[in-house]
Amino acid sequence: MCGIFAYLNYNVDRERKYILQVLFNGLRRLEYRGYDSAGIAIDASDFTSTPPLVFRQEGNIESLVKSVYKDVSKIELNLEESFKTHAGIAHTRWATHGEPAPRNSHPQTSGPANEFMVVHNGVITNYEVLKATLILHGFTFTSETDTEVIPKLAKFVYDNANEEGDQVVTFNQVVLEVMRHLEGAYALIFKSLHYPNELIACKRGSPLLLGVKELAENKENGSAFEENKFLSKDGKPKELFLSSDANAVVEHTKKVLVIEDGEVVHLKDGGVSILKYENDMGELVASLSRASSVRRALSVLEMEVEQINKGHYEHYMQKEIHEQPESLTTTMRGRLIRRGSSKSKSVLLGGLKDHLKTIRRSRRIVFIGCGTSYNAALTARPILEELSGIPVTMEIASDLLDREGPIYREDTAVFVSQSGETADTLLALQYALDNGALCVGITNTVGSAIARNTHCGVHINAGAEIGVASTKAYTSQIVVMAMLALAIGGDTISNQARREAIVDGLHELPNKVREVLELDQEMKDLANLLIAEQSLLVFGRGYNYATALEGALKVKEVALMHSEGILAGEMKHGPLALVDENLPIVVIATRDVCFSKQQSVIQQLHARRGRLIVMCSEGDAASVCPSESCRVIEVPQVQDCLQPVINIVPLQLLAYHLTVLRGFNVDQPRNLAKSVTTQ
Ligand code: F6R
Repeated sequence: MCGIFAYLNYNVDRERKYILQVLFNGLRRLEYRGYDSAGIAIDASDFTSTPPLVFRQEGNIESLVKSVYKDVSKIELNLEESFKTHAGIAHTRWATHGEPAPRNSHPQTSGPANEFMVVHNGVITNYEVLKATLILHGFTFTSETDTEVIPKLAKFVYDNANEEGDQVVTFNQVVLEVMRHLEGAYALIFKSLHYPNELIACKRGSPLLLGVKELAENKENGSAFEENKFLSKDGKPKELFLSSDANAVVEHTKKVLVIEDGEVVHLKDGGVSILKYENDMGELVASLSRASSVRRALSVLEMEVEQINKGHYEHYMQKEIHEQPESLTTTMRGRLIRRGSSKSKSVLLGGLKDHLKTIRRSRRIVFIGCGTSYNAALTARPILEELSGIPVTMEIASDLLDREGPIYREDTAVFVSQSGETADTLLALQYALDNGALCVGITNTVGSAIARNTHCGVHINAGAEIGVASTKAYTSQIVVMAMLALAIGGDTISNQARREAIVDGLHELPNKVREVLELDQEMKDLANLLIAEQSLLVFGRGYNYATALEGALKVKEVALMHSEGILAGEMKHGPLALVDENLPIVVIATRDVCFSKQQSVIQQLHARRGRLIVMCSEGDAASVCPSESCRVIEVPQVQDCLQPVINIVPLQLLAYHLTVLRGFNVDQPRNLAKSVTTQ
C-alpha cells in the first residue's frame, strides 16, 4: 500500500544520474506495495534558490523512469552534475483517494514553487476538513488525494510563523505543527526548498525505517556504529536512506533503525536526530520543547540481497513457490527439540515460553487475520483443539471490527500476518488489547507493528516475500501454527505418540515439498487445459477446507479467474446446483479422517457429470477416480495436520501457470498490493 523512499548523500560527491538510479532502484524494490503511479523529487542545479524538480507519472516504475529521462533531456538537465550533499524523495502508489494520474501521484506539493514536498503511505482521515480550511486561506488544490493537505499545511505553518516575525522556524517545528493536525495513519517524508539538504520523516501507524551507511569506517575501534554514535554530526561522509521496508535498503546497508510511532527523524548536516512527539498514551505532545530526544542503537538486518532478487526465476511468485523447502527449513530451525529425561520429541518457541501457562489457561483461543493469513490459521484449528482441548474460534479481522465481536480478558488472541502491518489486523489487535486479551503475534516481519504491539509471538522466518500473492509465507505460517499447537498442547502422556508423529512429520516436510514441486509441468499442462475457463471450484473439508479457500484465492487473485473454495460438507446445501459437464471442480481427497466422506462427494459429483480434478494421496488414483475422464493430482502423504502444506503447492503452481498463460502480471496482480495498510 504505497512505498516511500528517500536517499540523502552527505559530504560525498554523487552525480545526478547516480542519485536517480538509487531512487529508482529503491522504488523498484518497493513496487510490490503499489504500482499504479510513481514519482520523485530531486534538486535543481542551484538548489538554494531554484525550486526542486518534481516528476510524477501514471503506471509502474519503468514508466516513471522513461518519463523522467525524457523530461530531463527536454529541460537539458545535466545528469553528470555532481552534488556533495543531496536529498531526494520517491514514492510508488496504490491509489486510495483519486484515480492513478500524475496529479494524484506523489510527491504532493505545497504549490508550483515546490516549497514543501511530501511522500506518504497511509490515509489522512480528516483531510476534508483540513482541505476546506486551507481553501479558506487561499490555497488551491490540484489533486483528489488526502495527501495534498500535508505539504499545503506545511507551507501555511511556515508562512504564518515567518509573518509573525518569530525567530526562524525550524523544519522540525513545521513538521510537528503539521503532525498535530493530522488524523489517520501515515509514514511521511518531507523535503523543502526552505531547508535544502535536509529531510524529515515521521510516522504513525504505517511502517518506516532508516538505513545508515558510513563511508569512512572508524578504524580505531573497528566499527563506526557504536550505540548512539551514528546520531552525531561528525562531518564524515554518509549515505542515509528512509524506506517503507528493508527490501529497498539492504543492498546499500544492513544498519537500520525501525522508526516508531510518534517519532520524527531529522536528517541534517550528516547527523540524525530523533524526537518523540507522542506520550505514552499515543497523544501528540503540545510543543517541540516537550518532545523528548530518542537515542537508540542501530540494528543489523539479517536478510541478504539475494533474497530479494529473482535469481534464475522469471517471477517472484515462481521463485517463492520453489523456495518452500528452504523457507520451511528456516522456519523450523532450532525449534524442533528433544525434551526431558525421556528425550521425547517436542518443539521450542522461545517467543512464547513465558506465556504458555497463561495461554493454556485461556477460556478460548481466537485466531485473527485477513486473506491468506486467515486461511493459514484455519488449517491449525483442528490440531490445536485436539491437542489442547481449548475451544478455537476464527475471526476475519475486518468482520470482528465491524461486529465489535466479543473478546474477553480470558481469551488468547492470535494475530497472523505476513507483513505485520495489515491495517485491519492491527486495528483488531488494538481492539483485543483494549479488551484485555493476551495477544500473540505470528508474523514474517521482525520489528513490524504486530510484532511490536503483541505481548509475545513467533516469527515465521520465511524470508522476504515479494510476490503480491502469498505462497511461502502461507506454508511457513501453517508450520508455525502446528508448532504452536504442539507447544500449547504440552507434553501429556496421552498425546505423546501423536505429538511425536507430528514432529517427525515436520522434519520430513521440506523433502516432501521438494517432491510435490515436481508436479510443476503437470500443473502447467492442467493450466493449459483450463486457460479459457470462466470459473473453477475447489472442494475441501477438515484440514483441507483452508486449502480449498487458499487455492481458490490464489487462482482468483493472480489468474483473474473466478474461483471459489467450498466446504465439501456444504455441497448439497447449494453449490451442487452449479455442477455440470463444463465447470471444472478440484476435489481435495487426500487420506485423513474425512477421506471416505470426500469419496462420496466425488461419487455425487460424478453422478451429475461433474468435470472432476481429484487431488489424492500417492497410490490412491485408481480408487478415488470414478472414470477415465477424471484428472488426478497425486501428492505425497504426510501427517494430516501438515497435509495442507503439501496440498497447496500444486494449486499455487496451477495459479502461477494459469496467470502466465493468460498473459497477466504474476507479481503485481491488477488492483492489489502487498501490505494492506489502509482499511
Ligand atoms: C493473498 C494475500 C493477502 C494477504 C492479506 C493479509 O495472496 O497475500 O490475502 O494474506 O492481505 O496480509 P498479511 O498477511 O500481511 O496481514
